[in-house]
Amino acid sequence: MGKLLYGAKVAEALREETRVEVGTLSEQHGIVPKLVAILVGDNPASRTYVGAKRRACEAVGIASETVQLASDITTETLLEVVQNLNRDPVVDAILVQLPLPSHVDKVAVLNAVEPAKDVDGFHPVNVGRTCINSAGVAPCTPAGIVELLKRYRVRIAGARAVIVGRSDIVGKPLALLLLHEHATVTVCHSKTKDLPKQTQRADILVGAMGKPAFIRGKHIRKGAVVVDVGVNRVDSRKEVLKLFGKQGKESRERLKRFDEKGYVLVGDVHPREGKAKARSITPVPGGVGPLTVAMLVRNTLTLAKMRRGPGQAAAARR
Ligand code: GUN
Repeated sequence: MGKLLYGAKVAEALREETRVEVGTLSEQHGIVPKLVAILVGDNPASRTYVGAKRRACEAVGIASETVQLASDITTETLLEVVQNLNRDPVVDAILVQLPLPSHVDKVAVLNAVEPAKDVDGFHPVNVGRTCINSAGVAPCTPAGIVELLKRYRVRIAGARAVIVGRSDIVGKPLALLLLHEHATVTVCHSKTKDLPKQTQRADILVGAMGKPAFIRGKHIRKGAVVVDVGVNRVDSRKEVLKLFGKQGKESRERLKRFDEKGYVLVGDVHPREGKAKARSITPVPGGVGPLTVAMLVRNTLTLAKMRRGPGQAAAARR
Protein backbone atom coordinates (compact mmCIF):
# COMPACT_ATOMS: atom_id res chain seq x y z
CA MET A 1 0.00 0.00 0.00
CA GLY A 2 1.46 3.34 -1.05
CA LYS A 3 2.46 5.98 1.47
CA LEU A 4 0.44 9.19 1.32
CA LEU A 5 2.17 12.46 0.42
CA TYR A 6 0.27 15.05 2.41
CA GLY A 7 0.34 18.29 0.48
CA ALA A 8 -1.69 19.84 3.27
CA LYS A 9 1.23 19.30 5.72
CA VAL A 10 3.79 20.78 3.34
CA ALA A 11 1.40 23.69 2.73
CA GLU A 12 1.24 24.30 6.47
CA ALA A 13 5.05 24.43 6.69
CA LEU A 14 5.22 26.79 3.70
CA ARG A 15 2.61 29.07 5.23
CA GLU A 16 4.52 29.21 8.51
CA GLU A 17 7.75 30.16 6.72
CA THR A 18 5.88 32.81 4.74
CA ARG A 19 4.23 34.16 7.92
CA VAL A 20 7.65 34.69 9.55
CA GLU A 21 9.04 36.49 6.49
CA VAL A 22 5.94 38.67 6.11
CA GLY A 23 6.31 39.63 9.78
CA THR A 24 9.93 40.70 9.25
CA LEU A 25 9.07 42.66 6.10
CA SER A 26 6.31 44.58 7.82
CA GLU A 27 8.09 45.13 11.19
CA GLN A 28 11.49 46.10 9.82
CA HIS A 29 10.54 47.76 6.56
CA GLY A 30 6.89 48.79 6.96
CA ILE A 31 5.83 46.79 3.89
CA VAL A 32 2.59 44.80 4.01
CA PRO A 33 2.29 42.67 0.85
CA LYS A 34 -1.10 42.87 -0.83
CA LEU A 35 -2.95 40.51 -3.16
CA VAL A 36 -5.99 41.51 -5.20
CA ALA A 37 -8.12 38.75 -6.71
CA ILE A 38 -10.46 39.52 -9.60
CA LEU A 39 -13.52 37.30 -9.63
CA VAL A 40 -15.90 37.56 -12.58
CA GLY A 41 -19.39 36.08 -12.28
CA ASP A 42 -20.62 33.59 -9.71
CA ASN A 43 -19.00 30.26 -10.54
CA PRO A 44 -19.26 28.47 -7.14
CA ALA A 45 -15.92 26.64 -7.50
CA SER A 46 -14.12 29.90 -8.36
CA ARG A 47 -15.76 31.63 -5.43
CA THR A 48 -14.55 28.85 -3.11
CA TYR A 49 -10.99 29.01 -4.49
CA VAL A 50 -10.79 32.80 -4.21
CA GLY A 51 -12.17 32.64 -0.66
CA ALA A 52 -9.52 30.06 0.29
CA LYS A 53 -6.76 32.20 -1.26
CA ARG A 54 -7.92 35.31 0.62
CA ARG A 55 -8.13 33.51 3.95
CA ALA A 56 -4.69 31.96 3.43
CA CYS A 57 -3.20 35.42 2.79
CA GLU A 58 -4.83 36.94 5.81
CA ALA A 59 -3.61 34.06 8.01
CA VAL A 60 0.00 35.03 7.29
CA GLY A 61 -0.43 38.82 7.52
CA ILE A 62 -0.78 39.55 3.79
CA ALA A 63 -3.48 42.08 2.92
CA SER A 64 -6.01 40.85 0.40
CA GLU A 65 -9.02 42.11 -1.46
CA THR A 66 -11.45 40.59 -3.93
CA VAL A 67 -12.82 42.64 -6.80
CA GLN A 68 -16.13 41.00 -7.64
CA LEU A 69 -17.41 41.80 -11.13
CA ALA A 70 -20.63 40.95 -12.97
CA SER A 71 -20.54 38.06 -15.44
CA ASP A 72 -21.60 40.35 -18.32
CA ILE A 73 -18.59 42.66 -17.92
CA THR A 74 -16.91 43.62 -21.18
CA THR A 75 -13.27 42.87 -21.96
CA GLU A 76 -12.61 46.64 -22.10
CA THR A 77 -13.96 47.29 -18.61
CA LEU A 78 -12.04 44.33 -17.22
CA LEU A 79 -8.86 45.63 -18.84
CA GLU A 80 -9.43 49.00 -17.13
CA VAL A 81 -9.79 47.26 -13.75
CA VAL A 82 -6.51 45.43 -14.34
CA GLN A 83 -4.72 48.60 -15.45
CA ASN A 84 -5.87 50.48 -12.34
CA LEU A 85 -4.45 47.69 -10.17
CA ASN A 86 -1.22 47.75 -12.20
CA ARG A 87 -0.88 51.44 -11.31
CA ASP A 88 -1.78 51.06 -7.62
CA PRO A 89 1.52 51.16 -5.68
CA VAL A 90 0.24 49.19 -2.66
CA VAL A 91 -0.90 46.24 -4.80
CA ASP A 92 1.88 43.66 -5.16
CA ALA A 93 0.01 40.76 -6.69
CA ILE A 94 -2.93 40.46 -9.08
CA LEU A 95 -4.84 37.27 -9.68
CA VAL A 96 -7.50 36.88 -12.36
CA GLN A 97 -9.45 33.81 -11.35
CA LEU A 98 -10.09 31.47 -14.27
CA PRO A 99 -12.25 30.50 -16.04
CA LEU A 100 -13.49 33.83 -17.37
CA PRO A 101 -16.88 34.02 -19.16
CA SER A 102 -16.50 32.93 -22.80
CA HIS A 103 -17.26 36.41 -24.23
CA VAL A 104 -14.23 37.88 -22.41
CA ASP A 105 -10.88 37.86 -24.24
CA LYS A 106 -8.90 35.83 -21.71
CA VAL A 107 -5.56 36.26 -23.49
CA ALA A 108 -5.93 40.04 -23.59
CA VAL A 109 -6.79 40.14 -19.89
CA LEU A 110 -3.92 37.89 -18.77
CA ASN A 111 -1.51 39.84 -20.99
CA ALA A 112 -2.66 43.10 -19.39
CA VAL A 113 -1.47 42.10 -15.92
CA GLU A 114 1.82 43.83 -15.16
CA PRO A 115 4.42 40.99 -15.20
CA ALA A 116 5.89 42.25 -11.89
CA LYS A 117 2.46 41.74 -10.27
CA ASP A 118 1.50 38.50 -12.05
CA VAL A 119 1.17 36.15 -9.07
CA ASP A 120 0.08 33.17 -11.21
CA GLY A 121 3.01 33.47 -13.62
CA PHE A 122 0.59 33.38 -16.58
CA HIS A 123 1.86 36.49 -18.44
CA PRO A 124 3.94 35.55 -21.52
CA VAL A 125 6.95 37.36 -20.03
CA ASN A 126 6.75 35.14 -16.96
CA VAL A 127 6.05 32.04 -19.06
CA GLY A 128 9.32 32.89 -20.84
CA ARG A 129 11.12 33.38 -17.55
CA THR A 130 9.83 30.03 -16.29
CA CYS A 131 11.07 28.50 -19.54
CA ILE A 132 14.63 29.78 -19.08
CA ASN A 133 14.61 29.33 -15.28
CA SER A 134 15.18 32.99 -14.58
CA ALA A 135 13.88 35.33 -11.87
CA GLY A 136 10.22 35.64 -11.07
CA VAL A 137 7.39 33.43 -9.88
CA ALA A 138 6.31 30.16 -11.44
CA PRO A 139 2.66 29.02 -11.68
CA CYS A 140 1.42 27.96 -8.26
CA THR A 141 0.33 24.35 -8.80
CA PRO A 142 3.53 23.19 -10.57
CA ALA A 143 5.72 25.10 -8.10
CA GLY A 144 3.81 23.47 -5.24
CA ILE A 145 4.33 20.00 -6.71
CA VAL A 146 8.11 20.51 -6.97
CA GLU A 147 8.14 21.77 -3.36
CA LEU A 148 6.17 18.69 -2.25
CA LEU A 149 8.56 16.28 -3.98
CA LYS A 150 11.60 18.02 -2.53
CA ARG A 151 10.24 18.12 1.01
CA TYR A 152 9.37 14.42 0.86
CA ARG A 153 12.92 13.85 -0.45
CA VAL A 154 11.79 12.30 -3.73
CA ARG A 155 14.80 12.21 -6.04
CA ILE A 156 13.97 14.30 -9.09
CA ALA A 157 17.38 14.53 -10.77
CA GLY A 158 17.71 11.67 -13.23
CA ALA A 159 14.15 10.45 -12.57
CA ARG A 160 11.84 9.68 -15.47
CA ALA A 161 8.88 12.02 -14.99
CA VAL A 162 5.75 11.45 -17.06
CA ILE A 163 3.03 14.10 -16.99
CA VAL A 164 -0.41 13.27 -18.35
CA GLY A 165 -1.99 16.58 -19.39
CA ARG A 166 -0.57 19.55 -21.28
CA SER A 167 -2.46 22.55 -19.89
CA ASP A 168 -0.87 25.99 -19.77
CA ILE A 169 -1.52 26.13 -16.00
CA VAL A 170 -0.15 22.73 -14.93
CA GLY A 171 1.22 20.26 -17.49
CA LYS A 172 3.44 22.56 -19.55
CA PRO A 173 4.97 24.63 -16.72
CA LEU A 174 5.45 21.52 -14.57
CA ALA A 175 7.39 19.89 -17.42
CA LEU A 176 9.73 22.91 -17.41
CA LEU A 177 10.17 22.99 -13.63
CA LEU A 178 10.95 19.25 -13.49
CA LEU A 179 13.37 19.67 -16.38
CA HIS A 180 15.16 22.42 -14.42
CA GLU A 181 15.45 19.88 -11.59
CA HIS A 182 17.14 17.52 -14.07
CA ALA A 183 14.33 15.00 -14.55
CA THR A 184 13.84 13.33 -17.94
CA VAL A 185 10.38 14.59 -18.80
CA THR A 186 7.65 13.21 -21.07
CA VAL A 187 4.36 15.02 -21.56
CA CYS A 188 1.41 12.86 -22.63
CA HIS A 189 -2.05 13.94 -23.79
CA SER A 190 -5.26 12.77 -25.40
CA LYS A 191 -3.52 11.89 -28.69
CA THR A 192 -0.63 9.97 -27.12
CA LYS A 193 -0.34 6.47 -28.55
CA ASP A 194 -0.27 3.56 -26.09
CA LEU A 195 -0.51 5.69 -22.96
CA PRO A 196 0.16 2.84 -20.49
CA LYS A 197 3.46 2.13 -22.26
CA GLN A 198 4.57 5.72 -21.63
CA THR A 199 3.27 6.01 -18.07
CA GLN A 200 4.64 2.60 -17.06
CA ARG A 201 8.14 4.03 -17.51
CA ALA A 202 7.57 6.78 -14.95
CA ASP A 203 9.45 7.06 -11.69
CA ILE A 204 7.32 10.14 -11.07
CA LEU A 205 3.85 10.04 -12.65
CA VAL A 206 1.63 13.12 -12.66
CA GLY A 207 -2.08 12.99 -13.50
CA ALA A 208 -3.15 16.45 -14.65
CA MET A 209 -5.76 16.10 -17.35
CA GLY A 210 -9.01 16.55 -15.39
CA LYS A 211 -10.65 13.16 -15.94
CA PRO A 212 -11.88 11.42 -12.80
CA ALA A 213 -9.98 8.22 -11.93
CA PHE A 214 -8.62 7.96 -15.46
CA ILE A 215 -5.17 6.73 -14.43
CA ARG A 216 -5.60 3.08 -13.50
CA GLY A 217 -3.34 0.42 -12.06
CA LYS A 218 -2.21 -0.57 -15.57
CA HIS A 219 -0.73 2.91 -16.07
CA ILE A 220 1.42 2.84 -12.93
CA ARG A 221 4.81 1.18 -12.55
CA LYS A 222 4.98 -0.62 -9.21
CA GLY A 223 6.92 1.63 -6.86
CA ALA A 224 6.35 4.90 -8.73
CA VAL A 225 5.69 8.20 -6.98
CA VAL A 226 2.28 9.43 -8.14
CA VAL A 227 1.09 13.04 -8.01
CA ASP A 228 -2.62 13.53 -8.55
CA VAL A 229 -3.55 17.06 -9.64
CA GLY A 230 -7.18 16.30 -10.49
CA VAL A 231 -10.09 17.69 -8.52
CA ASN A 232 -13.26 16.18 -9.95
CA ARG A 233 -16.72 16.02 -8.41
CA VAL A 234 -18.36 12.60 -8.47
CA ASP A 235 -22.07 12.97 -7.80
CA SER A 236 -23.36 9.42 -8.24
CA ARG A 237 -23.45 7.07 -5.23
CA LYS A 238 -22.99 4.09 -7.53
CA GLU A 239 -19.82 5.64 -8.91
CA VAL A 240 -18.51 6.36 -5.40
CA LEU A 241 -19.03 2.69 -4.49
CA LYS A 242 -17.26 1.63 -7.67
CA LEU A 243 -14.26 3.87 -7.00
CA PHE A 244 -13.81 3.30 -3.27
CA GLY A 245 -15.25 -0.20 -2.88
CA LYS A 246 -18.09 -1.38 -0.68
CA GLN A 247 -16.02 -2.12 2.42
CA GLY A 248 -13.36 -0.52 4.56
CA LYS A 249 -12.78 2.76 6.38
CA GLU A 250 -12.11 4.86 3.28
CA SER A 251 -15.30 3.67 1.61
CA ARG A 252 -17.37 4.42 4.72
CA GLU A 253 -15.87 7.89 5.04
CA ARG A 254 -16.43 8.73 1.39
CA LEU A 255 -20.01 7.53 1.49
CA LYS A 256 -20.64 9.60 4.62
CA ARG A 257 -19.24 12.66 2.85
CA PHE A 258 -21.34 11.87 -0.21
CA ASP A 259 -24.50 11.66 1.91
CA GLU A 260 -23.67 15.01 3.55
CA LYS A 261 -22.68 16.96 0.45
CA GLY A 262 -24.13 15.13 -2.54
CA TYR A 263 -20.70 14.63 -4.11
CA VAL A 264 -17.15 13.55 -3.32
CA LEU A 265 -13.88 14.81 -4.76
CA VAL A 266 -11.86 12.36 -6.81
CA GLY A 267 -8.53 12.93 -8.51
CA ASP A 268 -7.36 11.93 -11.98
CA VAL A 269 -5.88 8.75 -10.51
CA HIS A 270 -8.08 5.81 -9.53
CA PRO A 271 -7.97 6.00 -5.72
CA ARG A 272 -7.74 2.30 -4.86
CA GLU A 273 -5.62 1.20 -7.81
CA GLY A 274 -3.30 4.18 -7.38
CA LYS A 275 -2.65 3.40 -3.73
CA ALA A 276 -2.14 -0.28 -4.48
CA LYS A 277 0.54 0.26 -7.14
CA ALA A 278 2.36 3.45 -6.11
CA ARG A 279 5.21 3.72 -3.63
CA SER A 280 3.71 7.02 -2.58
CA ILE A 281 0.78 9.07 -3.80
CA THR A 282 -0.90 12.41 -3.08
CA PRO A 283 -4.45 12.06 -1.71
CA VAL A 284 -7.46 13.94 -3.07
CA PRO A 285 -8.49 16.02 -1.23
CA GLY A 286 -5.51 17.07 0.94
CA GLY A 287 -2.76 16.64 -1.65
CA VAL A 288 -1.94 19.13 -4.37
CA GLY A 289 -4.91 21.50 -3.75
CA PRO A 290 -3.68 23.07 -0.49
CA LEU A 291 -0.18 23.43 -1.98
CA THR A 292 -1.50 25.61 -4.79
CA VAL A 293 -2.96 28.03 -2.27
CA ALA A 294 0.21 28.03 -0.13
CA MET A 295 2.36 28.77 -3.20
CA LEU A 296 0.09 31.64 -4.17
CA VAL A 297 0.68 33.17 -0.75
CA ARG A 298 4.43 32.67 -1.11
CA ASN A 299 4.40 34.10 -4.63
CA THR A 300 2.65 37.22 -3.29
CA LEU A 301 5.46 37.67 -0.77
CA THR A 302 8.10 37.09 -3.48
CA LEU A 303 6.53 39.74 -5.74
CA ALA A 304 6.35 42.24 -2.86
CA LYS A 305 10.04 41.66 -2.09
CA MET A 306 11.03 41.93 -5.74
CA ARG A 307 9.10 45.13 -6.36
CA ARG A 308 9.61 47.10 -3.17
CA GLY A 309 11.49 45.06 -0.58
CA PRO A 310 15.02 45.62 0.66
CA GLY A 311 17.66 44.10 -1.65
CA GLN A 312 15.18 43.66 -4.50
CA ALA A 313 17.78 42.24 -6.82
CA ALA A 314 18.70 39.46 -4.37
CA ALA A 315 15.02 38.62 -3.86
CA ALA A 316 14.53 38.50 -7.61
CA ARG A 317 17.24 35.87 -8.04
CA ARG A 318 15.53 33.42 -5.69
N1 GUN B 1 -8.33 28.43 -12.14
C1 GUN B 1 -7.92 27.17 -11.94
N2 GUN B 1 -6.66 27.14 -11.48
C2 GUN B 1 -6.26 28.43 -11.39
C3 GUN B 1 -5.04 29.05 -11.00
O1 GUN B 1 -4.05 28.41 -10.61
N3 GUN B 1 -5.03 30.41 -11.06
C4 GUN B 1 -6.09 31.13 -11.49
N4 GUN B 1 -5.97 32.45 -11.52
N5 GUN B 1 -7.24 30.58 -11.86
C5 GUN B 1 -7.31 29.24 -11.81
